[in-house]
Amino acid sequence: MKGLTAAYGPVPALADVTLDFHEGEVVAVMGRNGAGKSTLLHHLVGLRRAQRGSVEVLGRAPAALSASEAIRLVGLVPQDPGALLCAETVAAECRDGDRDGGLAAGTTRAVLESLVGGISGGAHPKDLSEGQRLALALAVVLAPEPPLLLLDEPTRGLDYGAKERLSRQLRQLAARGHCVVVATHDVELVAEVADRVVVLADGEAITDGPARSVVCHSTSLASQVARILAPAEWLTVEEVATALAERPGHRTTP
Ligand SMILES: Nc1ncnc2c1ncn2[C@@H]1O[C@H](COP(=O)(O)OP(=O)(O)OP(=O)(O)O)[C@@H](O)[C@H]1O
Ligand SMILES: [Mg+2]
Repeated sequence: MKGLTAAYGPVPALADVTLDFHEGEVVAVMGRNGAGKSTLLHHLVGLRRAQRGSVEVLGRAPAALSASEAIRLVGLVPQDPGALLCAETVAAECRDGDRDGGLAAGTTRAVLESLVGGISGGAHPKDLSEGQRLALALAVVLAPEPPLLLLDEPTRGLDYGAKERLSRQLRQLAARGHCVVVATHDVELVAEVADRVVVLADGEAITDGPARSVVCHSTSLASQVARILAPAEWLTVEEVATALAERPGHRTTP
């Protein structure tokens, strides 16, 4: 995006934001409530058209794409995942996902199982728990594996296991060359998955740097491990445990 500026009537939302997102990276977009994170994602997926400046995904303006073109280029799991779900049952939602994405039957259901197991195919999406509904929306968007994947607050309501599985899937997608952009307040998720952190404040991109240095040198964005071990730059328990295990003569208890 180049010089992207956006407003809702008189309310400014983004001010002259220029950012590049690359294949193979996981970028966390952080910032306070109202900073402009969701607005930024909505422009990347073409829900909103740039008022000033421009947005391109692999050379195409997302707002100009047809629905079937868009689904293969860029996918968004919205802040309210229920907004994405319109079928009467989980099974129908998965079938629609396969059909819309041109996928082999069962693909979306398999992605759902890999995130959260045991959800009944006959259940109405509205009757799922918050975490299950999010997992279903994630499955629908992840299944066609769009090169650009956008997630808006993807960990709200997820239990520890589901969050770990989501982190792993996002890392795997990035390793396969996808670009993943996650708007989040979850500093632990950022420590786990992000390569890079962009911080928005009042619609401006005020920070853009490697996750390790942004997370370790910020008072408000630091993970628990980063806080405890500062000024050393450690992000996660797993990282520390691995480093300790590699030191001769040291034993760690998980
Ligand atoms: N539909 C809307 N109508 C009017 N103003 C809006 C609308 N959506 C967002 N805004 C305003 O635009 C600004 C940016 O909002 P946005 O939702 O992008 O922030 P955010 O960083 O995603 O916040 P949060 O962390 O709460 O999700 C805010 O000032 C917000 O009040
Ligand atoms: Mg938001």
